[in-house]
Amino acid sequence: MKKILVTGGLGFIGSHTVVELQNSGFDVVIIDDLSNTTIDVLANITDITGKKPDFHKIDLRIKADVKQFFDNNKVDGIIHFAAFKAVGESVEKPLEYYENNIGSLVYLLQEMRDRKLDNFIFSSSCTVYGQADELPITENAPVKQAESTYGNTKQIGEEIIKESCNAYELKAIALRYFNPIGAHDSIKIGELPLGIPQNLIPFVTQTAAGIREQLSVFGDDYPTPDGTAIRDYIHVVDLAKAHIAALKRLLENKNKQNFEFFNVGTGTGSSVLEVINAFKKATGKSLNYKIVGRRAGDITAAYADTTIANKELNWKTEKTLEEALLSAWKWQEKQ
Ligand code: WQD
Repeated sequence: MKKILVTGGLGFIGSHTVVELQNSGFDVVIIDDLSNTTIDVLANITDITGKKPDFHKIDLRIKADVKQFFDNNKVDGIIHFAAFKAVGESVEKPLEYYENNIGSLVYLLQEMRDRKLDNFIFSSSCTVYGQADELPITENAPVKQAESTYGNTKQIGEEIIKESCNAYELKAIALRYFNPIGAHDSIKIGELPLGIPQNLIPFVTQTAAGIREQLSVFGDDYPTPDGTAIRDYIHVVDLAKAHIAALKRLLENKNKQNFEFFNVGTGTGSSVLEVINAFKKATGKSLNYKIVGRRAGDITAAYADTTIANKELNWKTEKTLEEALLSAWKWQEKQ
């Protein structure tokens, strides 16, 4: 049975990917520093699959601890989620973000190089495209000057991996996520934003639950049909399954270059107001919201051209926006 290391495996996307890995017959070992999640997620994953993943609480910024892990654990592939990911915070604390997001990546790659490990999947983001000139966004769209330190760590991360693949005979895939939302059908795992949610969907569900007084819609003067900004909201389970597809591509040596990247979205754009209406349709809950000014750094529209990912990964999304929003609401009700 192939053993896969999942860093950040107790996080939102990581935990959903661990479930799909176990469901696909992989043995899973998780590294997480618990800085943005809780240990309860480990039991919740076990409840879903009936298999308890091996877990190590390790801070990947500590090179000696990373080395010690690999002294004691042989793995057939790595899916690397562990990173800080708050866009606004990243601009206030750039050095913490570079130390964590870049430092941990370098230490992992050094161990892969030294031990001739292979098959690396990297959690990247459509944020590398900034505001793309053409929509939907293909993999040929140019990577633009990052709007935030967070986005820059994803761009730099991809460059480091690409150069490492060339120099050290590694093969890797970066998955450029659009906007992950929702929760597992079991409602045992989901998104656990700490503090005031920065992302739209957790704020929507907390407003519907009465935890937040009112949702602020950041701008209705964008050049879009209803004036609000457009994003590609992908169900987190669909996103998790894309990681299995990418991992199998590498394990079966079907990759065409030693470093590849794919846009992982639904291919459909939804505006903020469309999300609010879809949420009401899916859950019956109306939302108290108001239109306010634009949020600094936001782009008008981003949604994926999924042609290449669908073909090369033999993967496509299966869940609808309403299904994702309903699962997010059921998860919120359970908190
Ligand atoms: C979505 C839309 C907001 C909150 C970011 C990162 C991306 C990834 C996902 C980490 C935008 C609007 C939001 C609110 C609102 N992050 N909005 N009121 O900014 O597209 O992407 O999060 O992996 O890399 O860039 O996601 O959910 O913050 O915003 O109107 O209270 O909802 O303006 O149009 P975003 P988001």
